[in-house]
Amino acid sequence: MPSVFIKTYGCQMNERDSEAVAAQLVAKGWSLAKTETAADVVLLNTCSVRDFAEQKAINKMQNLVGAARNQQRTQIVGFMGCMAQSRGRELIDQLPDVDLVLGTQKFHRAAEYLDALLAGKREKIVDVAAEAKSEATIREHLLNGSAKTSVSAFVSIMQGCNQHCTFCIVPATRGEERSRTIPDIVAECRELVARGVKEITLLGQIVTSYGRREKRDEWQVMRDLGAEPLVTHHSSRVTPFVQLLEAVHEIEGLERIRFTSPHPKGYGDDLVEAYARLPKLCESAHLPLQSGSDRILKLMRRGYTREKFLGIVEKLRRARPGIGITTDIIAGFPGETEEDFELTLSLCREVQFDNAYIFKYSPRRDTPAAAMPDQVPQKIREERNERLLNLVNEIAARKYDAFIGRQVEILVEGPSKKNPARYTGRTRCNRIVLFEGSARHQGQLMDVKIERTGSFTLYGDPAILE
Ligand code: 5AD
Repeated sequence: MPSVFIKTYGCQMNERDSEAVAAQLVAKGWSLAKTETAADVVLLNTCSVRDFAEQKAINKMQNLVGAARNQQRTQIVGFMGCMAQSRGRELIDQLPDVDLVLGTQKFHRAAEYLDALLAGKREKIVDVAAEAKSEATIREHLLNGSAKTSVSAFVSIMQGCNQHCTFCIVPATRGEERSRTIPDIVAECRELVARGVKEITLLGQIVTSYGRREKRDEWQVMRDLGAEPLVTHHSSRVTPFVQLLEAVHEIEGLERIRFTSPHPKGYGDDLVEAYARLPKLCESAHLPLQSGSDRILKLMRRGYTREKFLGIVEKLRRARPGIGITTDIIAGFPGETEEDFELTLSLCREVQFDNAYIFKYSPRRDTPAAAMPDQVPQKIREERNERLLNLVNEIAARKYDAFIGRQVEILVEGPSKKNPARYTGRTRCNRIVLFEGSARHQGQLMDVKIERTGSFTLYGDPAILE
């Protein structure tokens, strides 16, 4: 049977899609190659959110096919995921050695297409068409792949995004919002928990919009078919996403629930109350801010103001004191003036994010922002990126230091990749903790005392408490 090597670029959704493709092939008897040179098939699961991510994958593919040619190896190579979706056949025109281009609604067809290519039945395959129900096809897991994944798993709950922020290519790469049903998701979560998973992260491009576009009666049909009943002990004000959280929360043996990525506009009172009411829901929230200037937020079509954003942070901190709040910010969006940028800096000082991901604005094809006037020169984008990074890192480091001497609960994921003598776990607010552990700690929820901090890492000591 053939072997495959999958390299993933981009977000956790992409990681999850790669895992599902790997699991699909493993179920058919394939093996996972340790290196790309040893593999019969190499797949690059791509990201389009910034130009840099696309260039990285294209360079990688050039190197792969170049190396295979030099070493006179025959290897099937393919692009899948977001860039495959947005560029399609054009990728083969540019790189004629590429055999497969698999779009974001076609991951479940990987085995079938690769078999056809390996058998020589087809020479090239490009499939980036839309496919009904594809949102429910990312479900197979590789629980024995790495020790860590058996403690914590990711579950894809929806695909696509209808928000159409003016900078963002995702609606073009992931399509319209489509959600799986609650019974279907809960069944997958139950299976994972039965196999030892303690923590589940619900995934989607805009999870707070989960189920908003689906017809209720479809879920009714699922119930009539004898699937898990929809949890109904809530008022009708509760959004489908919170209903899903409630349903997953009921799973016995599951210890922790997380989700990503949400939209700030989705933090209505029902979701804020869910934090107060559902103890398994971890006190951590990723709230992508993008900008602290109302003028820029409007140009981005984000649907909230600075004031509204601050209000959400305050509500969350009231519902769950100590909640970890992280964010994404874009530096140098078209039209951003020094004053707009300073509003972003001041908002960061005000909120004190636990961590922030800063991105230089990157024009994406066919997005409204790419055609906006007053594009910010690259040099200024870089300079603002740097200033913002310095500020958010300084705040984050201070917040990490505040943990020294405190006792925190961690879920132990497994040995640290860098130093296997150390074990790694996560706090409920999603910080990584390293400690001197052993196999018996794996999968345990345990308390450690934080002794010192490193760069975005806490070092804990369990001995003090034992
Ligand atoms: N340029 C720079 N950053 C972007 N992001 C999305 N689109 C772009 C773009 N065109 C960032 C946003 C988003 C994160 C995943 O990537 O901050 O939240």
